[in-house]
Amino acid sequence: MVLATKWVVGPDEKGYFWPNEEAKKHAWVNDPKIYEEAAKDPVAFWEKLASEGITWFKKWDKAYEWNPPYYKWFVGAKLNVCYNCVDRHVEAGKGDKPAIIWIPEPTDEPKRVLTYNDLYREVQKFANVLKNLGVKKGDRVAIYLPMIPEVQIAMLACARIGAVHSVVFSAFSADSLRTRIEDSEAKILITADGYYRRGKIINLKQNADKAVENTTIEKVIVVKRAGIKVDMKEGRDLWWHELMENVSSSCEAESMDSEDMLFLLYTSGTTGKPKGVVHTTGGYIVMAYWSSRWVFDLHEDDIFWCTADIGWITGHTYNCYGPLANGATLLFYEGAPDWPEKDRWWQIIEENKVTVFYTAPTAIRMFAQWGEQWPAKHDLSSLRILGTVGEPIDRDAWMWYFKHIGGSRCPIVDTWWQTETGGTLITSLPGIGPFIPTVAGRPFPGVTADILDSEGKPVGGDTGGYLVIKSPFPPSLLRGLYKDEEKYIETYWKEYGKEIYFTNDGARWIEGKYIRITGRVDDVMNVAGHRLSSAEVENAIDSDERVSECAVVPKPHAIKGEVPVAFVVLKNVEPSEQLKQELIELVKQHIGPTAKPEEIIFVKELPKTRSGKIMRRMLKALLKNEPLGDTTTLQNPESIEHLKEAVGYKG
Ligand code: WTA
Repeated sequence: MVLATKWVVGPDEKGYFWPNEEAKKHAWVNDPKIYEEAAKDPVAFWEKLASEGITWFKKWDKAYEWNPPYYKWFVGAKLNVCYNCVDRHVEAGKGDKPAIIWIPEPTDEPKRVLTYNDLYREVQKFANVLKNLGVKKGDRVAIYLPMIPEVQIAMLACARIGAVHSVVFSAFSADSLRTRIEDSEAKILITADGYYRRGKIINLKQNADKAVENTTIEKVIVVKRAGIKVDMKEGRDLWWHELMENVSSSCEAESMDSEDMLFLLYTSGTTGKPKGVVHTTGGYIVMAYWSSRWVFDLHEDDIFWCTADIGWITGHTYNCYGPLANGATLLFYEGAPDWPEKDRWWQIIEENKVTVFYTAPTAIRMFAQWGEQWPAKHDLSSLRILGTVGEPIDRDAWMWYFKHIGGSRCPIVDTWWQTETGGTLITSLPGIGPFIPTVAGRPFPGVTADILDSEGKPVGGDTGGYLVIKSPFPPSLLRGLYKDEEKYIETYWKEYGKEIYFTNDGARWIEGKYIRITGRVDDVMNVAGHRLSSAEVENAIDSDERVSECAVVPKPHAIKGEVPVAFVVLKNVEPSEQLKQELIELVKQHIGPTAKPEEIIFVKELPKTRSGKIMRRMLKALLKNEPLGDTTTLQNPESIEHLKEAVGYKG
């Protein structure tokens, strides 16, 4: 047996782990001085990274422009993201290198390997398909696809011709898809007949059909994945494989402005309506490239697997743009982690010799609960680096991951970021460390983060506060919310003014240097790593005419991190088990299965402030059995006794 390489030492007396000499030697960055050097002149630092990592058709006239709360990066520069992710690797003679290793869920179906040459051909063909259908630079294209390589091909083809993609998570409902299509006024929808999930076929086309009626969608392109019978509407619906048959495989990459929109990605905020986060071209790809390279220490021989769905920002940046811009090999798995058995992921790692593995704490907690016998069946010695994202990771999950997946050999990079930040902003770098359970780490070189109190003063010591980002803003930070300037300002630039980006996350310093994230401070929940707003779920429940009003708050959950719980006030109807089930079903229909409330609690009234605002904070405390704080300012303090009873509050 070959002894697997060890990459960490520790824990030291403080419980920190550090890269060993082997890891430092291997890493792209291993000298902590990089933080201080970048901080001296962050703009110059990003300029250097931009020049070294990305191929530009024309260099920028000005690197950074700031007109609060707006900023631009690499002003006047021209480039194409698809060119950077595909063409340049082919031109460099790397065409035969695997770009995407695709693993289908059914175990009797062979994996599919797309080399950079394959991507080069398929992307250009599909770009021509889009052009032939009348898609022009700046047009929006909605993508509602499962985890199949056509999704990256479609995204890259959009980027190639300058169309703006809006990928919608395939488990979202028809309603959710419709809202996103309407807001973005997309012309084209790309979807599939169906896909595999735990051995069953999910009919995706059915949802798509419901979503596109009476919208701006002119054509629906359908990938044949599951081979099921679907309705194809004459004149509107077209098969992907037919369109690809007789189309030229040569399509020049459009020269895009650095600040041209690359994609829109809808995410949950504090209102019921999802926000279209706008990402642009130059800044985004610089961050996607360098964060992939440094955080995951990607080298020529790495096989990188990020388990995130392509429908989330993590999928965009680390299942497509970042690794591909690096000319790396990424692994892309279609199905469920426990199909056909609870060791599927570990089997995939063993069979494909995955070296860098990136997943969410919720998945780790689930595997921990299933037991270490599942990973123990497999040789995971190819692994070198582990990563997590999406929510704070607790010590138990961290240690389980470290020991049972990483064999106590691999560092864990805990990466903090958001849909809005486009790439990782806070983490530990594998060649520098330290890797501290429950602590995300330091701001990425060139990023300025701080923790402020509610007055805007930096907090010292280990007092908790609010995480903010300061100018010069990371090149990949959002440029706006689609068609909603007001919301953009209100969400990010109101709390501390137009010069400080408010993350809406709580955080605290560790030794004045490392950052521990404590979670959202707004009405956004993190359910099994999925971002969900209280208001969205409330809107769904409120749409039932028997409901007078409701409030949805997160409750801690051992596996999912948080789950939504709904407090519902009914009109003149009796509460019943059936009504509960109907309301849960309604949420599933409106949003998707991930948003289903764990519990529905019927109550007579909700706690409200004098101005009539629902005190969700109090409901959260009730569910957690935490002190309720001052209840005298409530409009209806008597509601509390009744609520305590309803949830079985012990105080
Ligand atoms: C949370 C996902 C703690 C945080 C990339 C943030 C985290 C929200 C971490 C964004 C982490 C993400 N530690 N919390 N390492 N990473 N979060 O937009 O609350 O889906 O604001 O982006 O996830 O979720 P989003």
